[in-house]
Amino acid sequence: MLKTRITELFGIKHPVIQGGMQWVGYAELVSAVSNAGALGILTALTQPTPEDLTKEIERTREMTDQPFGVNLTILPTITPPPYEEYAQAIVGAGVKIVETAGRSPAPFMDLFKAYDVKVIHKCTSVRHALKAQSVGVSAITIDGFECAGHPGEDDIPSLVLLPQAAEALEIPVAGCGGFSDAKSLVAALALGGEAIVMGTRFMATKEAGIHQNVKDIMTEADERSTNLMFRTMHNTARVFKNSISDQVVEIESTGTAKFEDVKDLVAGQRGRVVFEKGDMEHGIWSAGISVARVKDIPTCDEMVSRLVSDAEDIIDGRLQKLKA
Ligand SMILES: Cc1cc2nc3c(=O)[nH]c(=O)nc-3n(C[C@H](O)[C@H](O)[C@H](O)COP(=O)(O)O)c2cc1C
Repeated sequence: MLKTRITELFGIKHPVIQGGMQWVGYAELVSAVSNAGALGILTALTQPTPEDLTKEIERTREMTDQPFGVNLTILPTITPPPYEEYAQAIVGAGVKIVETAGRSPAPFMDLFKAYDVKVIHKCTSVRHALKAQSVGVSAITIDGFECAGHPGEDDIPSLVLLPQAAEALEIPVAGCGGFSDAKSLVAALALGGEAIVMGTRFMATKEAGIHQNVKDIMTEADERSTNLMFRTMHNTARVFKNSISDQVVEIESTGTAKFEDVKDLVAGQRGRVVFEKGDMEHGIWSAGISVARVKDIPTCDEMVSRLVSDAEDIIDGRLQKLKA
């Protein structure tokens, strides 16, 4: 057993968390992760309305009696979703763990505190982590440059960002971005992390509700299989490398591209078709560099059990021998 302040905080068996994933974080995956002794996290905005989120929380409860959380990604958009109503749905359904991301959770902290909700805030810099600590979150997920989705603009990989955050903060920190297996879990613990948060690795599991083609292509990927888009717009996103993300990078390379020029290519609904129909060149989809480390498609239980027991073997075996 690997016990940390994060396993204690969330009442979970293993220091492993499945990060919120748009169009992936449904009840089947989340309950399988939680049943495996890790922390599954539903993605609020994958549900079209707050009422649907309430139903998805209920569906998850039917499949697990273990702790799980809900991700609330708060991004400034032209027509923002009703974030406040989603937050109300979360607390109303009695969920006690929330992963916030995208921007400061400050506007929601009074509500979450009133309902005894523990907040783990995901951010990509030490300064934002310190800010989140000051508004009362219980833990931080620090998202390194390797991560799927939005790595921020500082380009600091987990190897440096995680120990920087762990040393600067009083609350516990989970490493995120690039983690996938026992080796990287042990590394995270050595770097001062008290858990790992994974997205990409959990996509390639039996219970992830995405098309088999997506999972299969992940097992063939290597460390050069992602693209960074929106660099020129200062809103970097790491996605899987395919003909669509290659086109976006190409358009951006002119240096004068505007969002309008790539808007149709990057539409969220096109990416959703990739996940649902398995048409791998239909749109863009998030993936981290850790996709290189995906070699198989196990169940969540097989993956988490193997990860934790191999981590214990590394600590008790290889590392002990080095010391001797
Ligand atoms: C397909 C996909 C969708 C994601 N969607 C979200 C999201 O909606 N909100 C969020 O906070 N993070 C999102 N993430 C990021 C993950 O929660 C996690 O931070 C990231 O995957 C960690 O890096 P890794 O992929 O190397 O494990 C997404 C990741 C993936 C792979």
